[in-house]
Amino acid sequence: MKGIILAGGSATRLQPLSLAISKQIMPVYDKPMIYYPLSTLMLAGIREVLVISTPRDLPMFREMLGDGSRLGMHLEYKIQEVPNGLAQAFVLGREFLNGDKGCLILGDNLFYGRGFTRMLRRAATLDKGACIFGYYVKDPRAYGVVEFEQENPDDENSLKVISLEEKPQNPKSQYAVPGLYFYDETVCDKAAALQPSARGEYEITDLNKVYLNEGTLRVELFGRGFAWLDTGSPDSLLDAGNFIATIQNRQGFYVSCIEEIAWRNGWITTEQLHQLGQQMNKTAYGQYLLSLG
Ligand code: G1P
Repeated sequence: MKGIILAGGSATRLQPLSLAISKQIMPVYDKPMIYYPLSTLMLAGIREVLVISTPRDLPMFREMLGDGSRLGMHLEYKIQEVPNGLAQAFVLGREFLNGDKGCLILGDNLFYGRGFTRMLRRAATLDKGACIFGYYVKDPRAYGVVEFEQENPDDENSLKVISLEEKPQNPKSQYAVPGLYFYDETVCDKAAALQPSARGEYEITDLNKVYLNEGTLRVELFGRGFAWLDTGSPDSLLDAGNFIATIQNRQGFYVSCIEEIAWRNGWITTEQLHQLGQQMNKTAYGQYLLSLG
């Protein structure tokens, strides 16, 4: 399975912050936002990743992350000329996926919680169909919303998706669909066949509906205590930063430290990890890398 990070968009809700730079480059406490979705893919065991962004911002991502070799990864980059919908990731990413399965994560989605890696690893072994997630929120109207039922009363994992709606006025459930999706190798053909929605976008929800109609869409829930954070407004960006700072400073473990994850995955050696730490040894981040291993 390969991964795609969609890091486009104009982030109008973050202006003037976003007037000249991409939101996904902005800091969430001590690291650029894109580190968080990248680390999610890495925790899923995904080593080959395509970063899609605007003509303006893509060079900066390339400069920041390079070809991925310092993380033992393979990174590629692709421009999305017009921000015309999330499902376009699989039209732009067809060549990169090259017949493989694909996981899409939105560049501003931040996840944190116990058991996350296990869920990711399981989703990444998907054989046929698609896997999306559900997260209970107070107000789901700004999101894709999934309605489901438990098929087997004794098995809380046996969830059957009943409906999916994009930003409904009257949501059929409280469960928002986070920007993290796992698809089988038919995803590029399915994405290519989509029609634009009323707002003129190729919707990820429509892509998921194709799998739903085919009977191969699975949903898994993130439970209570799990964090799926928004970073789209100044307040939510600050809250996300404070959340990460609180956990890191209390426990001393770094959240979404891509160098640490690469090392724990066995993609780089302790020596390589320490070299990366050395390059940033004036910072707490660099010192943290040096303290590992
Ligand atoms: C997008 C998707 C929506 C999803 C959300 C998650 O919406 O269209 O289904 O729930 O991301 O972040 P956006 O926030 O880009 O409008």
